[in-house]
Amino acid sequence: MAFYSPLRYPGGKGKLIPYIKQLIQENSLLDCTYVEPYAGGASVALSLLLDGYASEIIINDIDHSIFAFWHSVLNETEELCELIQKTPVTLKVWKRQKKKQQSGAGGSLLELGFSTFFLNRTNHSGILRAGVIGGYKQEGKWKIDARYNKENLIDRIKRISRYKNQIRLYNSDASVLMNSLRNTLPKNTLFYFDPPYYVKGKELYLNHYSEMDHKKISDDIKKIITQKWLLTYDNVEPIKKLYSRYGQRIYNLHYSAGKAGIGQELMVFSDNLSSVETPMLA
Ligand SMILES: C[S@@+](CC[C@H](N)C(=O)[O-])C[C@H]1O[C@@H](n2cnc3c(N)ncnc32)[C@H](O)[C@@H]1O
Repeated sequence: MAFYSPLRYPGGKGKLIPYIKQLIQENSLLDCTYVEPYAGGASVALSLLLDGYASEIIINDIDHSIFAFWHSVLNETEELCELIQKTPVTLKVWKRQKKKQQSGAGGSLLELGFSTFFLNRTNHSGILRAGVIGGYKQEGKWKIDARYNKENLIDRIKRISRYKNQIRLYNSDASVLMNSLRNTLPKNTLFYFDPPYYVKGKELYLNHYSEMDHKKISDDIKKIITQKWLLTYDNVEPIKKLYSRYGQRIYNLHYSAGKAGIGQELMVFSDNLSSVETPMLA
C-alpha cells in the first residue's frame, strides 16, 4: 500500500484504508465528497483522493500546528519543499523548531508548518511534545534523521499539492465545522469521524475531549440524516452506550493472524451505511 501522507501520526488510521475503500465501493459511494473533521495525518483522506475513490476531500483539525503544515503543503508548496531540502537535520535545528512551536513561529504559517513537519519526523512516534529520536546525546541505535528521507517526503508533498483544487482545509472545532457544513454537502458524502480517544486522548493530543465534548459531538453526528458516516473510537462502554442505537462492530486495529484481541477498537455506522466483512472485524 502506498503511503501518501508526509506525517507520522499517533493513532493514525492508515490501516483502515483498504476497509474504507471497500466500504465506499459496496455502498455505491465512488466519487464521493469525503470529510474528515479530525484529520491529523489525513492518511485515509489522501488515499481516497489520490486513488480515485473520492472526488473531493475536506480535512479539518483544530490543532493549529497541524493546520499550518497542511496549509503550507497546499499553498506554499515550493517554499516548504525548499526548507526541507536545505535545513540540516541536527539537534541544534531540532531545538530551534521546538521553540517555534512554543512561540507560534511569530504567526508565519510556513514557519510553523515546517516546524510541525520537522518535529513530527524527528520525535518519538511523531508526537510534537515527545523527545527526539536517539535522545539528546544521540547515542541511541536510531538517530534524529532515521525517519527523515528528504527526497521521498518532498515527493509526497509535491504529489499532494497537485490535487489542491480537490482539497478543502479547515482549522475549526469539529462540532462548529459540522454545523456549518452539514446542509451544504451532497448526498454522496461520507464523513469519517476519528475523535480523540476516550481513554488515551490526554496522552496523545494537545486537544483532547472531556465527557461533555464526546456527548456534544455525538449529538452533532446524530443530526446527519442525508449523508453517510463512519465513526471509530476506543472500545469502551460509555461510547458504546452513547451510540447504542447504531450498528457497531469491533475491529482489530493491529490485525495480524493469531493476534486477535490486541488493540481492539470500535466502529459505528450511520443507519444508511452497510458494514462490509473483513478479517479485521471481530
Ligand atoms: C485520533 S486523532 C485523528 C487521527 C487521524 N484519523 C489520522 O489517521 O491521522 C484525533 C485528532 O483530532 C484533533 N482534534 C481534537 N479535538 C478536536 C476538535 N474539537 N475539533 C477538531 N479536531 C480536533 C486532534 O488534534 C487530533 O489530530
